[in-house]
Amino acid sequence: MQTSRPHGSDAVIAEISAGLLASNAHTSPKYLYDGLGSKLFEAICELPEYYPTRTEAGIFAAHGEDMARDIGTGTSLIDLGAGNCAKAASLFPLLRPAQYVPVDISRDFLIDSVTRLQQRFPQIDMTPLGLDFSSGFALPDSVRQRRRLFFYPGSSIGNFSPEQAKVFLRGLHANAGDDGGLLIGVDLVKDGAVLDAAYDDAIGVTAAFNLNMLRHVNHLIGADFDVRQWRHHAFFNAAQSRIEMHLEARDVLTVRWPGGERRFARGERIHTEDSYKYTRQSFVGLLEQAGFATNRVWTDAANWFAVIHARAIPN
Ligand code: AVJ
Repeated sequence: MQTSRPHGSDAVIAEISAGLLASNAHTSPKYLYDGLGSKLFEAICELPEYYPTRTEAGIFAAHGEDMARDIGTGTSLIDLGAGNCAKAASLFPLLRPAQYVPVDISRDFLIDSVTRLQQRFPQIDMTPLGLDFSSGFALPDSVRQRRRLFFYPGSSIGNFSPEQAKVFLRGLHANAGDDGGLLIGVDLVKDGAVLDAAYDDAIGVTAAFNLNMLRHVNHLIGADFDVRQWRHHAFFNAAQSRIEMHLEARDVLTVRWPGGERRFARGERIHTEDSYKYTRQSFVGLLEQAGFATNRVWTDAANWFAVIHARAIPN
């Protein structure tokens, strides 16, 4: 394999190289999502083994009206990681927000989606924000102060450790304004075999999703990862209550990039993602520590996934 010119910013290159050079090599899960990675994640959501997307959608379908009664209309709906805005848009007829504020790191994609959505819902004031909210943010004055409702579906909160999640939720609390709240989707602890299968599916889409990260990293830092030398490895770590995804070297090998190299022993791994699973009680407790009081919890019949409405308690 050949190294090539790096395409990432200096900060991205520094972050990725530091992770690859650490004794327990690791990369941030955000690097799973280049163009192909985003499409592979969409494909994961269609897999019979990957229950979260479908289960959450079922909860919204069954309890949307109840949620709207609990939340009320006329909110400023702040959609964190909005993407194509489809999940939030499906709730517009019930929630009837006064303002819609989709936030996403890929700005151009977001603007495209919002332009189309604004035509379907001309009565909603739409204010897209292209920013990376994962490391803290402040909302501009264009976002109304009153009745802000943060929308964070899909159990994306699971990519944070519980400690990081608490910091993140405190950041939302600090931005909640008057009468602020949160509508969040959380994946729940369940039988380990169900979890293992959801992250290691039979036809290998999740394996492709994980392995594609190496192609993305080659592009970003100009590394020479040979994807064929790596294998997908995912399992539920019950002690930490998280799914761990790793890439495992099939053989002894050396990866090179401009300014660095790393030798991997056969079987050595790169830790690429954690996906934390909560109990209903543990997540409600976390919300409390971040300044939120839980109003309602909706789940599916098997208790595999929860959608929680919490309100920000004023300081
Ligand atoms: C997008 C972070 C919610 O953890 O279930 C899916 C990502 N990784 N399969 C998850 C993912 C492997 C997903 N989240």
